[in-house]
Amino acid sequence: MTTTMTMRRTAAGGVLLLALLLLSTTVARAEDPYVFMEWHVTYGTKNIVGTPQKVILINDEFPGPRINCSSNNNIVINVFNQLDQPLLFTWNGIQHRKNSWQDGLPGTNCPVAPGTNYTYHWQPKDQIGTFFYFPSIGMQRVVGGFGLISVVSRLLIPVPYDPPADDLQVLIGDWFTKDHAVMAGLLDAGRSIGRPAGVLINGRGGKEAANPPMFTWEAAKTYQLRICNVGIKSSLNFRIQGHDMKLVEMDGSHTIQGLYESLDVHVGQCMSVLVDADQKPADYLMVASTRFMAGPSSVSAVIRYAGSNTPPAANVPEPPAGWAWSINQWRSFRWNLTASAARPNPQGSYHYGQINITRTIKLMVTRGHVEGKLRYGFNGVSHVDGDTPLKLAEYFNVSDQVFHYNQMGDEPPAVNGPMHVVPNVITAEFRTFIEVVFENPEKSMDSVHIDGYAFFAVGMGPGKWTAAERKTYNLLDAVSRHTIQVYPRSWSAVMLTFDNAGMWNVRTNLWERHYLGEQLYMSVVSPARSLRDEYNMPENALRCGKVVGLPLPPSYLPA
Ligand SMILES: *[C@@H]1O[C@H](CO)[C@@H](O)[C@H](O)[C@H]1NC(C)=O
Ligand SMILES: *[C@@H]1O[C@H](CO)[C@@H](O)[C@H](O)[C@H]1NC(C)=O
Ligand SMILES: *[C@@H]1O[C@H](CO)[C@@H](O)[C@H](O)[C@H]1NC(C)=O
Ligand SMILES: *[C@@H]1O[C@H](CO)[C@@H](O)[C@H](O)[C@H]1NC(C)=O
Ligand SMILES: *[C@@H]1O[C@H](CO)[C@@H](O)[C@H](O)[C@H]1NC(C)=O
Repeated sequence: MTTTMTMRRTAAGGVLLLALLLLSTTVARAEDPYVFMEWHVTYGTKNIVGTPQKVILINDEFPGPRINCSSNNNIVINVFNQLDQPLLFTWNGIQHRKNSWQDGLPGTNCPVAPGTNYTYHWQPKDQIGTFFYFPSIGMQRVVGGFGLISVVSRLLIPVPYDPPADDLQVLIGDWFTKDHAVMAGLLDAGRSIGRPAGVLINGRGGKEAANPPMFTWEAAKTYQLRICNVGIKSSLNFRIQGHDMKLVEMDGSHTIQGLYESLDVHVGQCMSVLVDADQKPADYLMVASTRFMAGPSSVSAVIRYAGSNTPPAANVPEPPAGWAWSINQWRSFRWNLTASAARPNPQGSYHYGQINITRTIKLMVTRGHVEGKLRYGFNGVSHVDGDTPLKLAEYFNVSDQVFHYNQMGDEPPAVNGPMHVVPNVITAEFRTFIEVVFENPEKSMDSVHIDGYAFFAVGMGPGKWTAAERKTYNLLDAVSRHTIQVYPRSWSAVMLTFDNAGMWNVRTNLWERHYLGEQLYMSVVSPARSLRDEYNMPENALRCGKVVGLPLPPSYLPA
C-alpha cells in the first residue's frame, strides 16, 4: 500500500505539484495535502473521425488532463479561459460537501469570461472512486474539455483489492462532428442534433483508434481500467476480446466483485474494473459500442501484450442484445457492505433501508413545444438559466428578482398543459430522507444525475411507478452512486438524505435534453446557518447579474 502511494505521488510529480502542508502552530490539525493545477483552455484542430474539426483542449490535451488525487485532498485548479465564450467546469460525481460554490454550473457560478482566469478549490471529502469533469455551459462539452478524476483511498484505509500493475483511463463516449455553437444554434432553432458520427475511446475514433496500441500490458499482471461514459446521448457497451472484467467500483462505491464479459455504461456513469492479463500474448481489442439505437456504431482500440506481434483476432466480441439483459445486469450490481471506503468505519453500518421516507418526489420527463420549439422538462416545467446564478441570488437575498421557488410540484400534472419555461428551483428540507422517482415516458433511454450527493439506486421497472413498486426495492445493498439510467417507458427510483446544504443540479445527462430544460436545482438550506453546514461564499467568487456590487449578505458568516 505504502509503495503504491509513493509511486503514485512520484508519477504525478511531473504534472502536479503535491504540497504536503506541515502542521503549523496556528492550525489545529494538519491540512489535507494540496494538488495544484493550471489549465489553459483553448480551441484546437484535431482529426478525430477522418476530418479535421475544432475541439476544446486543456493544456493542449484532448481529452483533458487526468486529475489524480486521494480522498480529502485540496484540489486547486487555476483555469485560464482562452476560448471566445464564457466557461465553467463541473466535476461530475464530486459531492462538494458544504460547498456548492465549486459545482461549476450556470445555476451556481458566474461564468469565467473569455481572456480571464478563475481558480477552483474543492475537496473530494470522504470520497473514493472514478469521476470526470466537463465544461458545463451550452453544448461545449460535445467538442471536448472533459477528463478523468480518480480519487484513491488515503494511506491506511484498506482497499478491497490488491494494487494493480497500472491504473488506466478509458473515457468512452459518442462523438458528433458539428461545432458546439452550431449544435446550440440547432437546438435554439427547435431542431435536433441528430445522431452521433461515431464513438471515441480516450479521444480516438474511427480507424485512428486501433493504431498505435492504446495500452501495453505485461502477461500475468492485473490492470485497473477506469471507464466513464463522457458522451452526451448514447448508452455504450464496453468489452475486451478474450478477457473478463472484475467490477470493483462504480460511481464512487466499492461493489461486490462480479465478473463480466461486457458492461453497459450509461451516459455520465463511471466504473472501475480489474482485468487479468492471463491470455496468450497477442493484441486484443477493447470495444465500445452504442446500445439501443438504430444504426449502432462502435470503436475499437488495441491492448498489446508486451512483445506481441500477433494482430487481434478477427472476431470482435458481439454486443449483448435487448433491454432485459441490461436491466438484469443492473440488478447484479451490489454494494460491498464490508468494504470500507473513504472513511475508516464501514459504509455498511449505514442502513438506508430502515429510514422512513419523508417525501416522494416523482419527476416525469416531459417534452413539448413552446413557441413551436422543442423543450424538455420535468413535470411540465422546463428549466432555463438566467444571468444571475440561482445560488448567488439566494445567498444575496435577491431571489425574488431572479426566480420563484417550487414552481414544479412533486407529481407530474394530471393533465398535460403547456410547458412552463422558468428557472426550476425546488426546496428540500435539510437532512430529510427523500425518495425520488424518475419516470421516462420517451421511446429513448435517459440517464439522470444528482449533484452534491450519492443516492441508493433501489429500483427500476417498466411502465409507470406506483407505491406498490416499493416492495421490489433493494433495501439492503443497492450501490450508492450519482447517476442512474432510466429505460424507455420505465422508471428508476433512488433514495437519499439531503444533508448537503447548497444549490444542486438534478439533471439528465443527455446534453441535448439538458440544454432544452430537463433539469432543475434543489435548494437545501441549513436552518442553523452555520459554517459547520455550509461554507461561506469564497472570496474569489465571481459576481454577475443582479449581485454585482451588492454588500456581503447577513448569511456571510464570520469564520
Ligand atoms: C495518474 O495516475 C496514473 C496511475 O497511477 C498514472 O499512470 C498517470 O500518469 C497519472 N497521471 C497524472 C496526470 O498524474
Ligand atoms: C489568475 O491567475 C493568477 C496568476 O496565476 C493568479 O495569481 C490569480 O489568483 C488568478 N485569478 C483568479 C481569480 O483565480
Ligand atoms: C468486499 O470487501 C471485502 C473487504 O475489503 C473484501 O474482502 C471482499 O472480497 C469483498 N467482497 C466481494 C464479494 O467483493
Ligand atoms: C418509521 O415509521 C414507522 C411507522 O410509521 C414507525 O413505527 C417507526 O418508528 C419509524 N421509524 C423511525 C426510525 O423513525
Ligand atoms: C430578504 O429580502 C426580503 C425582501 O425581498 C426581506 O423582507 C427580508 O428581510 C430579507 N432578509 C434578510 C435576511 O435580509
